[in-house]
Amino acid sequence: MGPSSVFQLAIFAISCYVSGALAAFGYTSSGANYIVDAGSSNPLVFSVSQSSCDINSIKFRGTELQYGSQGSHISSGLGTATVSISQITGSSKYIKITCVTSTLTQYMVVREGDSIIYMATYITAQPAIGELRFIARLLPAKLPSEYPYGNVSNTNGASSAVEGSDVYLVNSQTRSKFYSSTRFIDEDSHCVYGGTDVINVCIITPQQESSSGGPFFRDIDSNNAGASTNLYNYMNSGHAQTEAYRTGLHGPYLMQFSRSGVPNLKGADVSWFGELGLTGYVAASGRGTVSGTASGVPSGMQGVVHWHNSAAQYWAKTSSNGAFTSPLMKPGTYTMVLYQTEFKIASTSVTVSAGKTTTANIASTYSSTRKSLFKIGEYDGQPTGFRNADKFLRMHPSDTRMSSWSSTYTVGSSALSDFPMAVFQSVNSPVTIKFTLASAPGAATLRIATTLSFAGSRPQTTVNGWAGAAPSAPTKIDSRGVTRGTYRGFGEVYDLSIPAGKLVAGSNTITISSLSGSSGDTFLSPNFIFDCVELFT
Ligand SMILES: *[C@@H]1O[C@H](CO)[C@@H](O)[C@H](O)[C@H]1NC(C)=O
Repeated sequence: MGPSSVFQLAIFAISCYVSGALAAFGYTSSGANYIVDAGSSNPLVFSVSQSSCDINSIKFRGTELQYGSQGSHISSGLGTATVSISQITGSSKYIKITCVTSTLTQYMVVREGDSIIYMATYITAQPAIGELRFIARLLPAKLPSEYPYGNVSNTNGASSAVEGSDVYLVNSQTRSKFYSSTRFIDEDSHCVYGGTDVINVCIITPQQESSSGGPFFRDIDSNNAGASTNLYNYMNSGHAQTEAYRTGLHGPYLMQFSRSGVPNLKGADVSWFGELGLTGYVAASGRGTVSGTASGVPSGMQGVVHWHNSAAQYWAKTSSNGAFTSPLMKPGTYTMVLYQTEFKIASTSVTVSAGKTTTANIASTYSSTRKSLFKIGEYDGQPTGFRNADKFLRMHPSDTRMSSWSSTYTVGSSALSDFPMAVFQSVNSPVTIKFTLASAPGAATLRIATTLSFAGSRPQTTVNGWAGAAPSAPTKIDSRGVTRGTYRGFGEVYDLSIPAGKLVAGSNTITISSLSGSSGDTFLSPNFIFDCVELFT
C-alpha cells in the first residue's frame, strides 16, 4: 500500500466516524473545562469553562462552531460561577452542568443521543445588566445565514449606523438584530445555518411562563454581526417592556444542532425534565389547566386568551367555535384576558389548582353599539393594512424600500394602504383624513386606537379647523419602538368628543398630529402607531 492509499484510507475512516459512528456519551475534565459528548449519531461535543460557565467550544460533526474571542453564555457571561457536573440515570442518561451565582443558576443538560443542549435559567433577581438572555456566539464562516427571516438581521459588512448602535446600512438596506423577532405566541424555532452540509443551530422555547410581556412580545432572535453569528433566547428585556420581569425558573429551552432540516417545536421533548432536580421546576402533576369558551371575537380575527400574574404567564388561541384550553399552569390566581387578534376585549380572574381543570368562560365587553361614520383599519391591536405596516417589522422607516410616509387619506376612495401606520412628529405630522357626510351628524366621537407611543407622543386632532382637547401624555415605555420594528405597547385608545356643529354636511377634514413637547431626529421624533381610527355617533 503506497503512502497515498494510506492517506485515502485515513480520510475514509474519519468521514465514516463523522457521519455514522456513535460517539461515546459522557464527560471528561480537561484544561479547566468540562468536555461533554452527547453520544449522538451526529456527534456533538462541547466544552464549558469550570470557572465562568462559558461554552468555549462546540464541535458538531467534527466542525468547530464556537466563536473564539467570546463564549456562548447567559447574560454577557457570568464572569465567575461555581460550576459542577453530574451524570444522572433516569428514563434516559443525562449529563447536567450546574453554574451557580448568588442570584442565578444556569443549567445545561444533554440527554444521551440528542444533538441538543437543553437549558434552564433560575433567577432570584433580575440580572444587573437589566435583561435576561442566552447568547450563542458562533462562527459566521460556518453559520452565515439566519432563519426564518433571512438576512434582514444580518449586519455583517455594515457601511454605517442608521440609528443607535444597532440599526445599520448593508448594501443600501437597513438591517438590525431587532428585525429577527417573532411574537412569543408564533415562535417555533429560530436558527442560524450554513455550509454545503447545511448545519442548522436552532433555539426552541417550549414555553415562556417566566418571561415578560405576554403572547405578543417579540425580541431579538439572531444576528450575523460580522465577527460572530449570534443566536439568542431573550427571556426578558427593556425592549418595549410592558410589565414587570418575573423571577424563578426560565425554560427549559433548547439549542439544537441538526443537519437534516430545521428542527421544530413539535419535535421538542422536555417531558423528562422533572428527573433532573432543577430548582424551581414544577412538574406536570403540580399544575392545572383552564378551559372554556371565549365569545364575542369577530370572525376573521384570532381569539387569544392570556393568563398572567406576578409569577407566570400563559396563553392559548381559541378555536373557531371559541373553545380554548390553557397549557399546564402553575397554581395561583391569574388575570385572564381575551384579545381579538391583539386588541383587548375582556378581562376577568381565574384560580388554578394543581391536578385540576378549571372551567372559565370569557365574553367580550367591547361595545359595538355605535353608528360608525367611517372606520379606518380594525380594532385588532396591530397596524395591519396601513402604509408600511407590511415592511416595518423587518426594516427601518427610513429604508428606501418604504413607501412615502406622507399622504392624505380620503374615505371611500383611498386604499387602506394609503393611511400611514405611524405618525412621526418630524416626518409626516399631521395625517389628513378627508370625508363627505350626507348631513351634519350633531355631536360625534373620534376614536383613535393606538398600539405604541414613543417619547410621550399622542394624537392632537383638528376637525374642520377646530382643535380638539389635547390628551395628556401616555405612560412612557422605555426605549425605541417602530424604528426597531416594534409596535406592541400599552395600546392607548383616545376618544375625542366633537361638539355638535363642528362636523358639517358635505366635505370635512380631520387632521391628526403627533403631539409632544419634545422633538428629536427625523424618525426618532415623538411618534405613535395607529391601530384603528373611527368616527361614530
Ligand atoms: C446572508 O449573508 C451572508 C453574508 O453575511 C451570506 O453568506 C449568506 O449566503 C446570506 N444568506 C442568504 C440566505 O441570503
